[in-house]
Amino acid sequence: MKINLAGIRQEYTKGGLRESELPDNPLLLFDRWLQEAIDAKVNEPTAVIVSTVSADGKPSTRTVLLKGLSDGKFIFYTNYDSRKGKQLAHNPFISLSFVWHELERQVHIEGKATKVSPKESDEYFRQRPYKSRIGARISPQSQPIANRMQLMRRFVQEAARW
Ligand SMILES: Cc1cc2nc3c(=O)[nH]c(=O)nc-3n(C[C@H](O)[C@H](O)[C@H](O)COP(=O)(O)O)c2cc1C
Repeated sequence: MKINLAGIRQEYTKGGLRESELPDNPLLLFDRWLQEAIDAKVNEPTAVIVSTVSADGKPSTRTVLLKGLSDGKFIFYTNYDSRKGKQLAHNPFISLSFVWHELERQVHIEGKATKVSPKESDEYFRQRPYKSRIGARISPQSQPIANRMQLMRRFVQEAARW
């Protein structure tokens, strides 16, 4: 590697984190920080890195978008047949990491994943843009596809149905 990675550094100047200033309930602080990330127009403020573990104990990560927060539950939507979906069905332990670089802040959350109700899933699905709904129906998430043309063909066929 030609780039001097060790030499890349920045000063963190945005202020500290004082225990005395933190609310007892960390979710209140999360709400505030998320709102501040949105207000600061950071890129993808709701993006969160999701870690899951395979049946043989190997971790993997990917980014999803937070789509709800209720009673301390962080809600995202994905394909149950995706790699993460299958891993969570086998082992529900999960961790989430939000990173708002522009604000020099990060939040890590560990817990157990559960499925939202079918009603809640359907409500979310219905409010997605038309093309996103078609895309979700036709793309076999985490599976290899033959080529882009095959996916586009499926898109056109599925769009014609609806
Ligand atoms: C900014 C961003 C947002 C994403 N949001 C989602 C999402 O909300 N749900 C989802 O299933 N995949 C989302 N993806 C795609 C995932 O990162 C991932 O590639 C996909 O879900 C397959 O992951 P898996 O094979 O590990 O299950 C997003 C990707 C990016 C870059």
